[in-house]
Amino acid sequence: MNARILDTTLRDGEQTPGVSLTPDEKLRIAIKLDELGVDVIEAGSAITSEGEREGIKKVSSEGLKAEICSFARAVKVDVDAALECDVESVHLVVPTSDLHIEHKLRKTREEVKELAIESVEYALDHGLLVELSAEDSTRSDLDFLTQLFKEGIDAGAKRICACDTVGMLTPERAYDFYGHLSKLGVPLSAHCHNDFGLAVANSLAGLRAGASQVHCTINGIGERAGNASLEEIVVALYSLYETKTNINIGMLYDMSKMVARMTGVYLQPNKAIVGENAFAHESGIHADGVMKKAETYEPITPELVGHKRRFVMGKHIGSSALKQRLEEMDLPVNPEKFNQIFNRVKSLGDMGKCVTDVDLQAIAEDVMGIMTEKVVELEELTIVSGNKVTPTASIRLNINNTETLEAGIGIGPVDAAIVAVKKSVKDFADIELEEYHVDAITGGADALIDVVVKLKHDGNIVTARSTQPDIIMASVEAYLSGVNKILSDSGVKKIKKSDL
Ligand code: KIV
Ligand code: ZN
Repeated sequence: MNARILDTTLRDGEQTPGVSLTPDEKLRIAIKLDELGVDVIEAGSAITSEGEREGIKKVSSEGLKAEICSFARAVKVDVDAALECDVESVHLVVPTSDLHIEHKLRKTREEVKELAIESVEYALDHGLLVELSAEDSTRSDLDFLTQLFKEGIDAGAKRICACDTVGMLTPERAYDFYGHLSKLGVPLSAHCHNDFGLAVANSLAGLRAGASQVHCTINGIGERAGNASLEEIVVALYSLYETKTNINIGMLYDMSKMVARMTGVYLQPNKAIVGENAFAHESGIHADGVMKKAETYEPITPELVGHKRRFVMGKHIGSSALKQRLEEMDLPVNPEKFNQIFNRVKSLGDMGKCVTDVDLQAIAEDVMGIMTEKVVELEELTIVSGNKVTPTASIRLNINNTETLEAGIGIGPVDAAIVAVKKSVKDFADIELEEYHVDAITGGADALIDVVVKLKHDGNIVTARSTQPDIIMASVEAYLSGVNKILSDSGVKKIKKSDL
């Protein structure tokens, strides 16, 4: 069996509260979705706005392999708007539950059916492929729903879709429901929402029962609790159901990061498949098992989805993971020193801290009585910010005994300072700030601020922190501390003044 994927990140996904994409952003995501191998891209709802139409037009004129589709209500103006965008198909939607028909549309079932049929015919007459879709179908009268689909198919709809609009299905009900509709003789889509956390399970049950296509979004974004997540469905199909899709699974992590960045909807760390902790191990028993044989605590390899395995240092760390980390950091230690480092990492963990790479290096060097001098040191930082000025930073750094002075502007003072640092450390300007966490660790306006950053360079991740009363200073110091670690990992050493 082969399951088809209709990706609706750019339509249902964009309905996530607070998310709005520009036409160019839509295009960039669509190009990547096409590379990913989705069968259909629902690029938006053409009637929404001028900008939305511009975005859909950009996507449909890009010559992508995927079928490009627009959402349309069963009304002529919506179909006309879709036509204006040159899409290949419409996802033509009518509400079918009495709740929606009576309270939202204030119409009768017969009127809704007529609208649906007229719109199918109109869209077809204008050369569009029609996927006829029922909103709130899972709370609809099944005989009415079936009859509406039958008449829609007779009118020329090529596919049908049943939406579980507020996530009311269970996998058992989904199996019966989609099984029944799959007998209507045209390809059937399952469109499931995640209000009870069952969207993926219900979509999989729908496919097993005879649906041939699922509607889903990257990272499961969407209204309220979101839609079924594409990456979870695809990997579950591949790993647990031996069912193929056209998706290039190795791109999933990258795709997920791109959508998170562009929508501003960042993932919970424990999100399946693409979350930052999906392949992270802290507990000693798990890390030891994974190092001996990854399958012990990993159901799939991180590489399968383009992700990376990580061993996290904290109070649950075991000796094997710590040994490996110290070896990677080129810090060979004897058993006595190792125990001291191990105990200090555990006690930091007991204080509720995650131990960053820079913390570990500092602990290890302290125990071993060595000290790597920082290559980059902050001499002076000036920030100008306010409600009527562009945030600007000027920064004076000492880089291997040479002073540099650079300025940067940014969307905020921290961003401006980081821009200035990047300009100063030109050879390492490709360091990316992957994550930035701020915590106020004491109460009140004078709280101590703890900043933890995750920097990426050459595919490697380095974590660093700084705790200070000033949020900007804490951010810049944490960033510089990570930069110093990357420089030292890359073999850049502090030149002694006597060597100059
Ligand atoms: O979930 C839903 O019902 C929908 C329709 C409006 C297509 O997204
Ligand atoms: Zn939906």
